[in-house]
Amino acid sequence: MSIELSYDRWSTIYDTNRNRTRDLDAQMMRTRFGGSRFHRVLELGCGTGKNTGLLAEVAEAVHAFDFSEGMLTQARTRVTSGNVVFQRQDLSNMPWPVESASADLATFNLVLEHIESLDPLFAEAARCLASGGVLHVSELHPFRQYEGTQARFEDAAGNEVKVAAFTHHVSEFVEAGRRAGMRLVQLKEWWHEEDVGRPPRLLTLEFVK
Ligand SMILES: C[S@@+](CC[C@H](N)C(=O)[O-])C[C@H]1O[C@@H](n2cnc3c(N)ncnc32)[C@H](O)[C@@H]1O
Repeated sequence: MSIELSYDRWSTIYDTNRNRTRDLDAQMMRTRFGGSRFHRVLELGCGTGKNTGLLAEVAEAVHAFDFSEGMLTQARTRVTSGNVVFQRQDLSNMPWPVESASADLATFNLVLEHIESLDPLFAEAARCLASGGVLHVSELHPFRQYEGTQARFEDAAGNEVKVAAFTHHVSEFVEAGRRAGMRLVQLKEWWHEEDVGRPPRLLTLEFVK
């Protein structure tokens, strides 16, 4: 099954399934961006809008992209702020409909594991960012992928559906940012409160253009 179709099918239960990675990402975003101020934010792979409400609070304008119509339908119902535009876009198709140097924050949350090659996406994000703008990345930590963790859900018939994924090592993220002409300013690892004694669940990186 394609990644897009998998997310269409996951969309109606994505927010209610038990999912510690989703919950930790939401918590991390509040910790990192609560109280910040941005002019224009790009949310790359917005899903059901789990983080869009927060971004709409801290930005004058949010442009949120996803290729799954099912996920976008949930997001549009959930987030109705007038400063958010949701748009269907396959992030692998470039250029994105964004003016060059127009955003001061671009964020990928739990998306890049579904994209094989990081370089074109990082280059495109860098094109969209103004000088001094931040590229924020939050991903399932590759240490978890080495152990076999992968985005998955149980469909209505009770069957487990695994969503196709690629493993990106920590060095790949760092190098993709460097090759896109950005400077790494932060790298963090995050644990859910139920992860005691386990490898980190999330990896976050921030690059400045
Ligand atoms: C695990 S969900 C994360 C959604 C949201 N960022 C969050 O943190 O809850 C991954 C999302 O990436 C989207 N996605 C995956 N590959 C994509 C692509 N090539 N273009 C656009 N969206 C994509 C999926 O449709 C899905 O909504």
